Amino acid sequence: MLHPDLKNKEFPYKDITLVPNRLPNFERDEVDLTTDFTKKTKLKTPLVSSPMDTVTESEMAILMALFGGIGVIHYNFPSIEEQISEAEKVKRFEAGFVKKPICLSPSNKVEDIYKINERYGFFSAPITEDGTLKSKLLGIVTHRDVRYQKNMKLPLKKVMTPKEKLIVAYRKNTLDKNDIEAANKIIQKNNLDTLPIVDENFKLVALVTDSDLRKNEAYPLATKDKNKQLKVFIAVESRLDLAKERIKKGCEVGIDGIVIDAGIVYREQIEIAKYTKKKFPDIEVVLGNIDSGQMLKEILKETRDSVDGLKIGVGPGAACITQQELGTGRAQASAVYDCAQTAKKLTGKYGKIPLCADGGIKILNNPDSDINKPGDITKALSLGSQTVMLGSLLAGLDEAPGEKEYDYKEEKMVKKYRGMGSPEAMRTRSSVRYGIDKTKIKIAEGKEIKIPYRGSGYDFVPRLIAGIKQSFQKQGFRNIGELQKYADIRPLPE
Ligand code: XMP
Repeated sequence: MLHPDLKNKEFPYKDITLVPNRLPNFERDEVDLTTDFTKKTKLKTPLVSSPMDTVTESEMAILMALFGGIGVIHYNFPSIEEQISEAEKVKRFEAGFVKKPICLSPSNKVEDIYKINERYGFFSAPITEDGTLKSKLLGIVTHRDVRYQKNMKLPLKKVMTPKEKLIVAYRKNTLDKNDIEAANKIIQKNNLDTLPIVDENFKLVALVTDSDLRKNEAYPLATKDKNKQLKVFIAVESRLDLAKERIKKGCEVGIDGIVIDAGIVYREQIEIAKYTKKKFPDIEVVLGNIDSGQMLKEILKETRDSVDGLKIGVGPGAACITQQELGTGRAQASAVYDCAQTAKKLTGKYGKIPLCADGGIKILNNPDSDINKPGDITKALSLGSQTVMLGSLLAGLDEAPGEKEYDYKEEKMVKKYRGMGSPEAMRTRSSVRYGIDKTKIKIAEGKEIKIPYRGSGYDFVPRLIAGIKQSFQKQGFRNIGELQKYADIRPLPE
């Protein structure tokens, strides 16, 4: 419930507070943050990493998905292939049955195994007759087989474990029944790294690896598709021709959805959404950004069921200068509230549309202190968004692209963070995000800043999640539904 003094006002997160009125009778860890990023993508954690070139490539997307959120891979690479290869690394990271393992042939060399490791981060490769999937399995090469091998030119047939010594599982007992447990048992019983799955003619059809199993146990919140692979979205630009190519190539590596990403929604994005749904009905489509109920209404009217989620925020981001430079944008908390109220009113007509509050989430800047302001995230959720998108909050982590460096003035370690509308980022592809890729004069809408280095995301994200749960528990809410229904949102004194 929004306090009457806030009605029809502009207010950022920092000007509001959530007043606890209940007596909690449950523990922090009983809070359930399950939510929807899109109509079909459920998350156990309401966090989405931003498609920015200093925030989300494969490492960040893997981190987010392992902890129950999701990452959106940016498109500011020199080529489409580079973006898609990052998405592919996420899809290959963890899987129950790896249905398209990379195979090599007996005449491939030891150096080829190292190339695979460099590109995908794993060492095992099944060896098949012609080096492709679905030809006969001849053996397998794992790290153990090559780790002391100095001769990079040695053919793999000389180092592989041959099929006579291999333990395999048959597809009819495992894959055909989607029974990953049966495969797990064989791996555990025989202490294997890798279990090939073959058909009755000994043709390779899939692979299960032990490290995948360990990850399954370690990350119970993970956001996975029906094949137990991590989910990932990619950003596409609001230019139909380029978007078409990205989507097609993205589908080939199994992406789960796209975010048609622009500073503010363009008409062309609506066309891209419709095109995507028609050509690739399983791909989920998020559109952004919007900042008012009015815009939301117009988009739903035009797209109907071509859109699965909407992103809210014009100008609130830490590296944004749109509001200062162009006098355009809105205080984020009021934008979220306005959009959520309109979405609620339109549910009967268009169905439920999940909203993602993008930008403006802050926590203490001191990396040494505990994270004690995940409260902005709870505020965004209480105002009606289902998820939040984070840029600056994640850019200081090891998993964000770019190296950490020492800032002599500030006397601390930092990482660079830049708006996609900054002059530096726009040298590659991202001027299209602001609709000025075809013009000579480019007006910057973002800047480059330094963010305190925050270390490993594998420490940071669980603490952030615990912080969000703690703020829910303080107010006596067990889940996002209760928070949205009963939160007491009031203005803070100036
Ligand atoms: P935070 O506050 O989490 O915000 O760092 C991340 C979001 O900021 C948006 N973004 C920009 N907005 N100019 C803008 O006006 C820019 O150059 C820019 N770069 C990113 C974007 O929505 C992101 O998710």
